[in-house]
Amino acid sequence: ATALYPTISAEGFNTPFKPSTNPEAQWYPKAGFGLFIHWGIHSVAGTNPSWAMYNNRFGGTDNASHTPEEYYALAEKFNPQHFNPDEWMKMAKAMGMQYAVLTTKHHDGYCLWPSKYGKYNTGTYMGGRDLVKEYVDAARRHGLKVGFYFSPRDWAYNDHVSAFGVPMQKFDGHNKAINPFKGEQNKIEYNKWLDYTIGQMSELLTNYGDVDVLWFDGANWDGIKKPIDDVKVRNWVYKLQPGIVINPRWGGKPTNPNYKKHKGSHHSLAHISQRVGDFYTYEAKFAYIEDRNEGLYADIWFEFCSDWKGNWGYSKPRKNEQEASEKRIKEIIYQLTLIRSFGGNFLLNIGPDGEGSLRPDVIAEGSIIGEWMKTRKEAFIYSEAVKNWEQISNVPLTRRGTTTYAHLYMHNSKKHKGVHGPVIIQQITTKPSKISLLSSGEEIAFHFDEKHNTLTIDVPKHLQDKFSTIINIQK
Ligand code: GLC
Repeated sequence: ATALYPTISAEGFNTPFKPSTNPEAQWYPKAGFGLFIHWGIHSVAGTNPSWAMYNNRFGGTDNASHTPEEYYALAEKFNPQHFNPDEWMKMAKAMGMQYAVLTTKHHDGYCLWPSKYGKYNTGTYMGGRDLVKEYVDAARRHGLKVGFYFSPRDWAYNDHVSAFGVPMQKFDGHNKAINPFKGEQNKIEYNKWLDYTIGQMSELLTNYGDVDVLWFDGANWDGIKKPIDDVKVRNWVYKLQPGIVINPRWGGKPTNPNYKKHKGSHHSLAHISQRVGDFYTYEAKFAYIEDRNEGLYADIWFEFCSDWKGNWGYSKPRKNEQEASEKRIKEIIYQLTLIRSFGGNFLLNIGPDGEGSLRPDVIAEGSIIGEWMKTRKEAFIYSEAVKNWEQISNVPLTRRGTTTYAHLYMHNSKKHKGVHGPVIIQQITTKPSKISLLSSGEEIAFHFDEKHNTLTIDVPKHLQDKFSTIINIQK
């Protein structure tokens, strides 16, 4: 064993959940929009990444159950011939995205790089091809920040002996099985796993130049309460990559809002502040944003992530899903708008297929959003939230210097209907010098009530956009 883990110390570290103060990390809360990429051996089958083998607990889009044996056999077939990360990054950049996060290792344990640790990786199966490097190089070429998703939770470790610390083969339909290791032996096995995990992480954090985001996703070892010492490991990561930002999903205690248990309720701030990391991540349930989770108003960095087409990984489009869906585009823009108005980032996911190709509907929607963004990016990217806009405005607001952007999104969600106008903003102390349509610059008439400090903007019908009408208000 390399015994890497014991060499890590927690010295000099005192603030758990707090954004990094390193100047290199300050891009993060302003970035606004990022690309999540779930890609791996699961993409060959178009099934739910990793979870498909977990007794099909969360069915994949093919709704097929995969035994661990069937699942890992996919490694033989994963050999992407059409992988062209430049295409993914080009699309992301056009859409206004500023960073990308690739699943370098999902819970299934398959590494997209030729790791020295373990056998489920491209070293064993792809002649040493380094998909992580190809991704990193492409991201840099297109000016995107580089993010690594990494799951310490690893179901391939030691030939399946670590799914939640239990042998995968023995899952019995109730997600229960018995850890064969007890007492001292369990600790020895656990320490070996720690070294393997830190070993893989050290490869990711030293072989690819600057890494901008480390996106953890769970850690479990049966019989060990806190499988990763988050404070200690975070400190070590900072030494290798001082400018990095880290999410707080280290496992141990649940790190995602448990939306089955907490249906309708909110993830409390107290819960959030127990985590160790730079930014908080919401897990796919937009209700957490729409329901105004109290975390939105706190002084913390946050990110909301979501799949694009119903599965984190690849899912085969149905016959009626070959072209762009305007409904989905409207929804994506609505979600980005609301998230930005609260100061968070939106990490939107693609699930390329086993060859590395994107679904035709994703390509089509991505290109429409890219076109649309050409004249509107500034309202989302490197813009700021207008804190507590809800108290003064009937539409979400973002801001950049002396410009305020009012967003008349068109998506009708269950909770909030799209706003067609008029826009009413209160507590405005000085009359704006100019109000115009962001995309064309065309001036729009407005009414300013000096007595009540209220601004009213009627947006003429012919200027209304089908996705979202953005009004530029100049101080
Ligand atoms: C959850 C799931 C995982 C997914 C992740 C994305 O942690 O376990 O499959 O990759 O969320 O946010």
